[in-house]
Order: sequence, then C-alpha cells, then structure tokens
Amino acid sequence: MNENRVAIIGIGMTKFGELWDYSYRDLITEAGIKAITDAGIEGEDIQELYVGSMSPGLFAGQEHIGALVADYSGLSGIPATRVEAACASGGLALRQAFLSIKSGRNDIVVAGGVEKMTDVPTGAAMMALMGAGDEQWEAFQGITFPALYALMARRHMKEYGTTLEQISEVSVKNHYNAQFNEYAQFRFEVSLEEVMDSPPVAEPLRLLHCSPITDGSAVVILASEKKARELKDEPIWISASALATDSLALHDRKSLSRMDSVILAAKKAYKQAGIEVKDIDFLEVHDCFSIAEILAIEGLGFCKLGEGGILTEEGQTKIDGDIPVNPSGGLKGKGHPVGTTGISQAVEATLQLRGEAGKRQVKDAEIGLIQNVGGSGATCVVHILSRG
Ligand code: COA
Repeated sequence: MNENRVAIIGIGMTKFGELWDYSYRDLITEAGIKAITDAGIEGEDIQELYVGSMSPGLFAGQEHIGALVADYSGLSGIPATRVEAACASGGLALRQAFLSIKSGRNDIVVAGGVEKMTDVPTGAAMMALMGAGDEQWEAFQGITFPALYALMARRHMKEYGTTLEQISEVSVKNHYNAQFNEYAQFRFEVSLEEVMDSPPVAEPLRLLHCSPITDGSAVVILASEKKARELKDEPIWISASALATDSLALHDRKSLSRMDSVILAAKKAYKQAGIEVKDIDFLEVHDCFSIAEILAIEGLGFCKLGEGGILTEEGQTKIDGDIPVNPSGGLKGKGHPVGTTGISQAVEATLQLRGEAGKRQVKDAEIGLIQNVGGSGATCVVHILSRG
C-alpha cells in the first residue's frame, strides 16, 4: 500500500426502522446532505460516488442506483457506481471509495449505503435476501437466512458446548446498547427470559436472536490526507481495508462453526494497519443473527474458537467491558437495512472515535474495527479506523 492516507471527514445517517414517510431516494438524500454538512464541503467538491445497495429492484422496484443517487444528491455528472455484495454491500462501497482515494485518483469521494426493505411483505423480503445464498443448493431447496444461521448455531453448540443462554446474551446486550442510539430501530431493553421465550423462527434461533427488516441509509465522506488536514482538525483515519471471500453454499465450507472469510480478512487488516488484536478498543460487528456476533469475535481473534459465548456471558463485550462489541446496538438493536449496514458501522465508529457517542461512548476509544458480512459469510469486509 502507498502512503497516501485516507480519512473520514463527514458522516450522516437517517433513523433506522419502518419509515413509511420515506422513499428509497429520500433516505439516501437525507443521509447524504447530513454527511456533506458534517464534512463542511460543497457538493461540487465531490469527485466520485459509491453506493452499496443489496436488492433495490426486489425491495423497491428500482435499479440503476448509481446515477439515481448522483442525480438526487445534486451530483449528476460525476462517476457513480452501485456496489453489491449482499449484506456487505455497504462495507464494499466503503472499500471502493477508500481505494479510489488510495490510488491517488481522487481527493474527495462519497461512500453511501441505502435499503428500503419494508415496502414488501416479509416473505418477499426473505426471497430477496436469499439471493445472497446459493440459489441452486440453498434458496431453491427452500432454506432461509435464519435457517442457515441456525445450522451454524447448532454446530457451534455441538462442537464447543455454546449454550442458547450465551447466544441470547448477545441480544440482551445489543438491545441494551440500542436504547442510547437515536438512530436505532429498537430502543428498548429485553431480558434473557424474553429472548429465550420469544417465538421460534428457525430452531434454535428465536425472534429476538434475529436482526429485523429495516429501512435506512448512511453516508460517509472520505478524503485524501492533504484534503482531510485542510478541512478537519481531527479527521478519523482508515488504517486498513480488507476483503475476503468463501463459498456461498454452507455445505462447501470446511467448517460450519467458524467463518474463514472473517479470519482471513482480519489477518489482512491487522497486517495493513500494523497493529495487534490487543490494540483495538471496540468493535462493530455483523450480528445479523446473535450467533454471528460470537462467530465474529472468535474469527477476529478476540478469543479462541469456541470461546465467544463465554466472553459474552462474562460481560466482556459490554460497553464498559474489556472489549466492547456493538456499542451502537448492532444489527439486532439498531436494525439491518442490508446494503446500509457497513456504512452505518463506519458512522458509529467515527462517532466513537470523535468522542461523540453520548451515553454509549466507549471510554478512551482510539482504535475501532468494523466487520461487515455478506450472506452467511461468503464475503467479509474489515476496516480499521483510528484517531491518530
Ligand atoms: N426483533 C425484534 N422484534 C421484531 C423483529 C426482530 N428481528 N422482527 C419483527 N419484530 C417485531 C415487530 O416490531 C412487530 O412488533 P409489534 O407487533 O410490536 O409491532 C412484531 O415483531 C411482528 O413484526 P413482523 O414484521 O410481522 O415480523 P415478521 O414475522 O414478519 O418478521 C422475522 C420477523 C424474524 C422473520 C424478520 O425480522 C426477519 O426475517 N429477520 C431476518 C432478516 C434477515 O434475514 N436479514 C439478513 C441477514 S443475513
């Protein structure tokens, strides 16, 4: 990698939830205007745009997203590209924007994410989401995403003795954190009993182990080191951007109880940033189902494989724990507008590193890691952000 550093200089986000008053384009326009205002730039300063959106055609009847977003943001004319990697579309858009600046081609680039999922019934949303799995071997056979993650949960429980209580503690923590996040879909606490007794979705996973179906958008503005230093006293730096892949179909994986794409992306990211696991102060990870947070902290190296449940049960992943995970409330509490999630993680990490996260602020946050997964782990994008 060359020495041209890349910074986040502006962030913007809509509220997440069932947003009946917003159209697809309203969502990204609102998040974009907030980010431009936060960056203190003009629209004409923006040289390129990447937008992550998983399935706007099936969720909102709209394709051709790059040009649409440029047009509605008043940026018509600039190069604008839609990026798709299922639920990791946002993370991948961030990476493309990062690479655009890193290459020396541009100084100010936008990375956005947008999804409008609640305009179709749940069954149709599930069908759209299953496009992220293997059509031939999974979707066509009738399996859904909750069921794929249920298979991983069962394997983890069998292999390591992980308990449903431990998996449920992830949901309890993330709902607790989401109370303090003004953007979150579910700003209420749930007890362990409520999680364990919630309606079954795909055994052993229950309603309160699942992320919801969500509308929402988030935007970040990236700048080259020269521009960032001109525009901001304390920009937030992206010190690593790593991407790894695995097979789409679960049955082709070496193991169901770990995600090799996460392990691989994390190794690359630590090497790029020149840091070790112990240097990281907080994580925003992809808990689309609560078992996924356990797989994430294990794959990212915060404990041995099989010990993620114990770490969670001991409270080490709480905001005031040794390694806070998902202070935003995660996908479970904050919501999961699929193509937006990776960008919303960057927004949260920026707020944390600026010290602007209010009641969910992680103490002395200097370095944060964000991890965004596509499908059941076929894509994993990891970024490391820091203050200095
Ligand atoms: N967590 C907590 N509450 C939820 C919820 C969730 N994940 N999903 C829905 N609810 C609540 C709703 O707010 C609503 O509450 P109310 O009655 O107080 O208004 C109630 O449950 C019923 O909502 P509804 O929209 O009818 O739920 P549903 O049965 O249609 O959908 C799921 C529930 C779990 C099937 C759906 O949220 C889902 O598919 N989640 C997974 C999404 C996914 O796969 N994402 C990609 C990951 S890779």
